[in-house]
Amino acid sequence: MAALGRPRRSCLAVPGSSVKMLDKAQGLPADQVFLDLEDAVAPLAKPGARKNVVAALNDGDWAGKTRVVRVNDLTTQWTYRDVIEVVEGAGENLDCIMLPKVQSAGQIEWLDLTLTQIEKTIGLPVGKIGIEAQIENAAGLVNVDAIATASQRVETIIFGPADFMASINMKSLVVGGLIPDYPGDPYHYILMRILMAARMHDLQAIDGPFLQIRDVDAFREVAKRSAALGFDGKWVLHPGQIDAANDVYSPAQEDYDHAELILDAYDYYTSEAGGKLGAVMLGNEMIDEASRKMALVISAKGRAAGMLRTTTFTPPA
Ligand code: GLV
Ligand code: MG
Repeated sequence: MAALGRPRRSCLAVPGSSVKMLDKAQGLPADQVFLDLEDAVAPLAKPGARKNVVAALNDGDWAGKTRVVRVNDLTTQWTYRDVIEVVEGAGENLDCIMLPKVQSAGQIEWLDLTLTQIEKTIGLPVGKIGIEAQIENAAGLVNVDAIATASQRVETIIFGPADFMASINMKSLVVGGLIPDYPGDPYHYILMRILMAARMHDLQAIDGPFLQIRDVDAFREVAKRSAALGFDGKWVLHPGQIDAANDVYSPAQEDYDHAELILDAYDYYTSEAGGKLGAVMLGNEMIDEASRKMALVISAKGRAAGMLRTTTFTPPA
């Protein structure tokens, strides 16, 4: 099972150019915030946005949220200054740098080496700052395994659907939505490919944005599809999407209770007192070692989400 690490059911995008939104985001119940220097910030506003982001990280109260800054991608002239200014200015109060439009392992290696230089210069432990890699084009997806293993710092692989759709000439403008002309989920392969890389290398898999921000029901429908596959969380662009993401990427109470029950029952039945049994009945269900592994996943997600169980296992008299 992949390490859950920092919680990321809801990853709130906050444009670095808006002091008002940087302020407001601090009080919202998102698991993660990412302060954006990339596509939500106009070219002329980027230098000012770097300063806003440093000030917000240092002076804000982020109340246990995972704090991330998305820098510009490495085909632009802005990336190195983004990284240096943000990490030198606020490295102490920063958890990860998100690198968008990653295309190769070399780009992650560049970021890793740059972060190491900055950490050594300003006296932070080497490796303190993690990396989030955003997959947004064909090259990124084809190279996703190499990207995932290019640095020990990589914590997440993120799907960037809008840029991805543009990069492969997809015939739709509704990000993440189903396409009536296609008899299936057009994102299935991409999501699965990212998920396999994430699970193989013990990273989190994060789904990208849904742009119809006023339609929370449609957001839920899209989120449910990646959550069902095993994704850990999704971007949110608006406060109204946060509760939905926290809910969709947490187990249902009934599933969480059941998982804890399986773990307790399996623990008991495999013990001396329980008869050292490997496969037993729990109600109408047969459970064995594979059931325990599935239950561990659901239970870990539930515990990470702070859920409390509402049932207990009682061994037979
Ligand atoms: C996000 O960056 C996207 O392109 O969907
Ligand atoms: Mg993008």
